[in-house]
Amino acid sequence: MADLQKFIEELRAKVSIVDVVGAKVKLVRKGREYSACCPFHNEKTPSFTVNEAKGFYHCFGCGAHGDIVKFEMEANGLPFLEAVQKLANKAGLPMPKLSHEEHVKSEERKTLYEIMEMAVQYFERCLRLPEGRHGLEYFYHRGLSDEVISHFRLGYAPANNGLKSWLSSKGISEHEMMELGLAAMSSRDNSGKIFDFFRDRVIIPIFDKANRPIAFGGRVMNDGQPKYLNSPETPIFNKRHVLYNLNNAREKGYNAKNIIVCEGYMDVIALSRYGFEYAVAPLGTALTEEQILEAWKVCDTPTLCFDGDGAGIRAAIRSVDRALPILKPGYSLRYVFLPDGEDPDEFLQDKGHEAFEQHLANTIPLVDLLWRKNTENVPMNTPEQKALVEQNIMSEVAKITNEQVRNYYHQEMRQRIYYQLGKGAWSPKYGRNSQDKSSYAYRNGKKQNYLAVPQVQVQVARPKTDLDELVAKFIVSALAFYPALISEFEEKIGMFSLSKPEYQQLLDAMVDIYQNHVDDEAFDSSVLCQELKDRGLGAVLATLWELKMFRLQKPFITNLRHDIETKLTEVQVRQLDCEIRDCLAKLESAENFSEDDYAFYQNLKKERQALIEAKDSLD
Ligand code: UTP
Ligand code: MN
Repeated sequence: MADLQKFIEELRAKVSIVDVVGAKVKLVRKGREYSACCPFHNEKTPSFTVNEAKGFYHCFGCGAHGDIVKFEMEANGLPFLEAVQKLANKAGLPMPKLSHEEHVKSEERKTLYEIMEMAVQYFERCLRLPEGRHGLEYFYHRGLSDEVISHFRLGYAPANNGLKSWLSSKGISEHEMMELGLAAMSSRDNSGKIFDFFRDRVIIPIFDKANRPIAFGGRVMNDGQPKYLNSPETPIFNKRHVLYNLNNAREKGYNAKNIIVCEGYMDVIALSRYGFEYAVAPLGTALTEEQILEAWKVCDTPTLCFDGDGAGIRAAIRSVDRALPILKPGYSLRYVFLPDGEDPDEFLQDKGHEAFEQHLANTIPLVDLLWRKNTENVPMNTPEQKALVEQNIMSEVAKITNEQVRNYYHQEMRQRIYYQLGKGAWSPKYGRNSQDKSSYAYRNGKKQNYLAVPQVQVQVARPKTDLDELVAKFIVSALAFYPALISEFEEKIGMFSLSKPEYQQLLDAMVDIYQNHVDDEAFDSSVLCQELKDRGLGAVLATLWELKMFRLQKPFITNLRHDIETKLTEVQVRQLDCEIRDCLAKLESAENFSEDDYAFYQNLKKERQALIEAKDSLD
């Protein structure tokens, strides 16, 4: 066998992989590599690469991977020895003589993925042995159940080179272990000794989309450094292309029409535990272009989730830079920032599923982040300063390669510049006279006043529609954050009753306070909140964690307006649907119904239609 192995290495040195692969597919040179559309799966854009120096091919789409021998086997359907024979002919070398045993063994050669799978199983087993007990305790301590541990196939790597011994006993060579990053040569001395790469760490295996293990993350259980050790780049692992948990999140994400991209392994696992099974994470680097493209295969607007602290915001901005050049019609990114510098893991353990769901419902679109990146904490008082801001924004817009998308960004940014810089309206007070006229209300260059959206009058005779707690909470906190919205929505909200009396009380007080300040230029959110506290409503106010979120995310008032309109309309439509259903049932069961009954039914239907139209004109 050793001879055969040597012979294959000789073949690898003699026969160019570019020639072998090139005989089957058309290769295009790209820097040091060649690329092509993958012969092993159907694709339109090339993700198949051939590396002459390293002697292997790899497909980032389907994971197909191997050397010249493997290619002959897979692409031409040859058995191992025939593939070797064919290559020997090509190189003009005679085949070595093989014993019967060598013939048998040659059929059992393990793929790199199979070796990785052996390692996954080894680490999983160790977690359940006495030596892995502290690893298991660590996971339990972080709230992971046995079910979660086995779902993510978590494990433990002991400190005794156990993996290397185990793999050796199964006939895996040190060369293969090193190639896969499972073992490494000691760098401390020149002894050439080979050690397990992961030692005394809990292990998080990383799978590709086809659910094959390709790498590991190993976490220390104390304050040691580095906190996470990740597999090095290997023939089957290129971390720029990989999103942790995409194997699970893909299917779930299609169904949820969403994919959450967070920062770390433990965040993904926490999200999954709390019912968000469509979460993924890059592997300790900023999100790459390749990873964004992967996420776009799952849904058109992935949700990126960051800590709300400075580092999180910087990371978000980096992702904007990555995304701009590759934006295309229909595809974008949206953002969620978590309060108090928490990561999703901490947030969920603290506040639970519903609170996170709320955040997911109020994301910031990429276009807003681009705007804020260029306008927040930037001086914009003099014409020169304003011009600089404009120049910066427009040079960012120019990075968008897709012409259609670029044009719309250009238009959108022009409008924001005009209404927020040009009119001297930047940093508007959150008062009634606020001149916030950002693009939404000015779509297509035509003013579309929110208040001009057909106001649908709910019939006075009918009872008020109940606003459920979540919607009420959102709206009340939006009004507290932007008091200018109080006057705009006062009337409309009056048509609803807030199911939670505390919120009703808060709303009533806000309207009252607002009316006392009608002509007060200095009236803003902080004045309002102070007066609410003075009226003994501080405790209810404090339950509005949305407020905190708004302060953090500073959504545009136009976006909030839109969200409130949409939410209210949705509630009304739902209510009308119930009434229409009841009414229809009554009409159908009544032997003879009056003209009035029928007219009432028709009115309900008309009302519903008007609401839907109003809603469509919002969207
Ligand atoms: P974090 O430091 O935010 O870790 O790194 P975390 O996810 O909160 O982990 P816990 O909760 O302390 O266990 C985020 C991600 O950055 C990578 C890892 O992929 C991690 O999940 N990272 C971090 C590294 O690769 N190496 C490190 O030393 C630290
Ligand atoms: Mn964490």
